[in-house]
Amino acid sequence: MTRLDDFRLNLGGKEYIPIMLGGMGVDISTPDFALAGARLGGIAHLSDALICAVSDRHHQTDFVKQRYKKYKSLSGQDNKSFAQFDIDSVKEATRLLVANAMERKEGDGAVFINLMEKLTMNNPRETLKARLVGALDGGIEGISLGAGLHLGSLDLIKDHPRFRSVNIGIIVSSVRALKLFLKRTAKLNRHPDYVVVEGPLAGGHLGFGADDWQNYDLNTIMAEVVSFLKEEELDIPVIPAGGIFTGTEGVELIKQGASAIQVATRFIITQESGLPDKIKQKYFEAEEDDIEVNLVSPTGYPMRMLKNSPCIGKGGKPNCESLGYVLDRNGNCSYIEAYNEAAKLNPDKISIKNKTCLCTQMRAYNTWTCGQTTYRLKDTTNQLQDGTYQIPMVADIFNDYRYSTDNQIILPQPIEKRAV
Ligand SMILES: Cc1cc2nc3c(=O)[nH]c(=O)nc-3n(C[C@H](O)[C@H](O)[C@H](O)COP(=O)(O)O)c2cc1C
Repeated sequence: MTRLDDFRLNLGGKEYIPIMLGGMGVDISTPDFALAGARLGGIAHLSDALICAVSDRHHQTDFVKQRYKKYKSLSGQDNKSFAQFDIDSVKEATRLLVANAMERKEGDGAVFINLMEKLTMNNPRETLKARLVGALDGGIEGISLGAGLHLGSLDLIKDHPRFRSVNIGIIVSSVRALKLFLKRTAKLNRHPDYVVVEGPLAGGHLGFGADDWQNYDLNTIMAEVVSFLKEEELDIPVIPAGGIFTGTEGVELIKQGASAIQVATRFIITQESGLPDKIKQKYFEAEEDDIEVNLVSPTGYPMRMLKNSPCIGKGGKPNCESLGYVLDRNGNCSYIEAYNEAAKLNPDKISIKNKTCLCTQMRAYNTWTCGQTTYRLKDTTNQLQDGTYQIPMVADIFNDYRYSTDNQIILPQPIEKRAV
């Protein structure tokens, strides 16, 4: 019986177990989470979503406080173009997160970072450049560019000394997006080192419409990408993502031309994941009907989450002076517009159903996104006597993907049997 462990991903002259742990914001992909994946010989991502706040949490910096101090007197204004990010702080926050993880890294795997390009931070070009440079300066081994792929991203770092040696990947949901990106990178004579093909069942923001994601499937898109790269004689590893629930499904994709798989949802409930434990239990309890793709994200991209997520329908005051990651280049965010409209209608009880604040409100109301297979998580661990579910380790899930056959899921060893 073939297992994922029978294959290896070759990237940048190194061999990895062909399991990539996708980046999950905000701070679900903690440094401990990414380091666990790397220790096992796979590739695991950090996430740069809300990077200054994440650095404050892990490194006792005070980037968010400093920003608020600088802009609080202007907070009454609707247009937030005044609230520019301090570029050096953004770079330093990213560098700190990465350098600290790299210092602690053990094992044969690698730590990459997922860059969410749709977080335009009031100055898309300069803030993206700061995040890229910060990650490279911190010693990151790979950068996955996604969520709003920006065709000019590589131009921003073309003079960095690590530009040609670091692994750079792009996340696409169609051959069309890949073709556009390759046209641009051909000019730099620097193609991506790997392509993650993300299908419609993934978590986070989606590259499909909220109404038509059901019309697409990962295998078809991946086959199109594989055949396009072959026609172009481009030897770039293809890594499918989105709804791959067992190692056996991964093996099938490798047989169809993939070089590895990218997975995330099965790992959100692990001990090392940054999701609060009570939310992990909610994810275990979820049924298929509880999961929806909606348009509440102010990025404009569809997002998958639990229907009853507590942030939906709330009306928190925009907090862009502290955070402000979704502000566009003109200092606007569709959540601010929705908030102002709702405040006009009923200032005493502001309730917003069509948008949520990605920066403040999702965390304040314990809301994160999830993948379509979340409702199957309950089948991947042991239920405890009190009805809650055992929280597995990254290694439990990783090894299940790596060694399982016949679509079986190897449950984690029960807590009482684990060596202390
Ligand atoms: C909770 C969660 C948060 C995610 N956040 C991000 C993100 O910040 N950026 C990104 O590019 N992808 C994000 N993703 C997508 C994953 O990196 C991955 O490609 C995808 O979810 C894989 O599919 P699976 O979850 O079905 O295994 C997220 C996924 C989940 C489940």
